[in-house]
This record gives sequence, structure tokens and C-alpha cells, in this order.
Amino acid sequence: MQRTPEPELMETPSQVKAYADADFSKSDSMVVKGLEKYLKELGKNLNKSDLILDVACGPGNISERIAINWPYVKVIGIDGSRQMLIQAEESLKENFLKNLTYQLIEINSIATCKQYFPLRADVLVSNSALHHFHSPCKFWDALKKLGKKRCIHFHRDLIRPSSIEKAIEIKEKYLSNSPEILKKDFFASLKASFTVDEVNQQLVNAGLSQFEVFQVDELYLEIIGLV
Ligand SMILES: C[S@@+](CC[C@H](N)C(=O)[O-])C[C@H]1O[C@@H](n2cnc3c(N)ncnc32)[C@H](O)[C@@H]1O
Repeated sequence: MQRTPEPELMETPSQVKAYADADFSKSDSMVVKGLEKYLKELGKNLNKSDLILDVACGPGNISERIAINWPYVKVIGIDGSRQMLIQAEESLKENFLKNLTYQLIEINSIATCKQYFPLRADVLVSNSALHHFHSPCKFWDALKKLGKKRCIHFHRDLIRPSSIEKAIEIKEKYLSNSPEILKKDFFASLKASFTVDEVNQQLVNAGLSQFEVFQVDELYLEIIGLV
């Protein structure tokens, strides 16, 4: 199936609300577990001088989990959608975490240097972010600017199914009881996602060929590495 990009930012209030209300807990916990495992493999113990950036954090579902898991580490969630960050701040009011903050940042502008981001991360994490980018090279270029030297990367994203029929099957399998707006967004995301081969090529083009890309299951791929 050919890739069909979807809008980058998620800004429609009803779309943001449906996304924030959805239960992604199973997949979200895999991000924290996966990062934990990778840090262990690297022999890296995070300490209070470290900074983790959750890139394209959306309503903060994963930023919160990271901040809870590493309470002594500073965590910043960044996203270009004001509406998403309003949701994230709302959730933080109910569940205050002193090590977590959010910043409104459009990520393409970091790649093109229009927006200066003074903080440099020790760890860069993203989930369901890469497929939103119309030019994935901008995503990778921005990440290179956001990380310190030897920054640890852990990224997880959807895999594009082989056919439209398979995408419909996956949508029904995973979201059969979800609101229509969420199903529509999920379907658009499946069509906008990349294959493992495409991500490998993006990494070569970005000078990040040392990163590893692997398929986790029928829905997700993971990308890990140091730069
Ligand atoms: C599917 S959500 C993922 C949210 C969260 N990471 C999660 O896993 O639940 C994708 C997020 O990427 C953000 N996004 C997409 N393109 C962006 C860009 N160019 N700059 C900043 N944020 C962007 C959207 O606004 C949205 O909040």
C-alpha cells in the first residue's frame, strides 16, 4: 500500500479529546518497558542531571509514565499542538509530577533552525510521532539538534500494513469498540506510517545508520540507537 500522509498536528478539539480519552495503556507501558530495557543494555543509570524529552508528546500519556518511572529525572514533553498541551496540562493538574513540564514546539522548525531549543536531552523518546511528519528527514534532523552528544534514542511507531484490506482488518481488530473519530484517525495513521525498510532508508539519509529498526509485532516498530 502506498503511503498517504495525514495532517501533522492534531489540533481539532474533538479529535484531541477522543485521543486523550482513549486507553492506550498497554502500548504506552511498552514504551517505558522498552526504554528501561534499552538503558539496562547500555548500562546507563539515569540521574538527576539527566533530561528526557518526549517528542510529540500529545496529551502527555507517555510523558507522565516516564516522569513517574524516573521521578528524579527532569522530563519535558514537547508538541506543536496547543490543544494537545492543554489536555496534557489538565491531566498534570490532577496528577502533579514535579519533574514534568510541557513546551509548545513545532518540530519542523527545529530542523530548519527557525526555533532555537536551548535544552539538550540525554534521552529522546517518541511514540506514534514519526508517521505524522510529511518529510521524515525533518523529524530526524530535529532530533539530532535536540540531543546531547551520545544521546540515547528510543522511538516507537506504527507500521504501514501491506494493503488497504489489511489496514481495515487491523483497525477493526484493535479499535472495534472505539468512537468513530478515533477509528478514523487510527486508519489515517496506519496509511501514513512507514515500513521497516523505509525507516532504515530515512536513517541512512539522516546519517543515523547506526540506529537499529525492528518490527515488534503486527502494529509497531521500534528504533533505538545512540548519536
Ligand atoms: C498520535 S499523537 C502521539 C502522542 C503521544 N506521543 C502518544 O504516543 O500517545 C502525535 C502527536 O504528534 C504531534 N505532532 C505532529 N507533528 C508535529 C510537529 N511537526 N511538531 C510538533 N508536534 C507534532 C501531534 O500534534 C500529536 O500530538
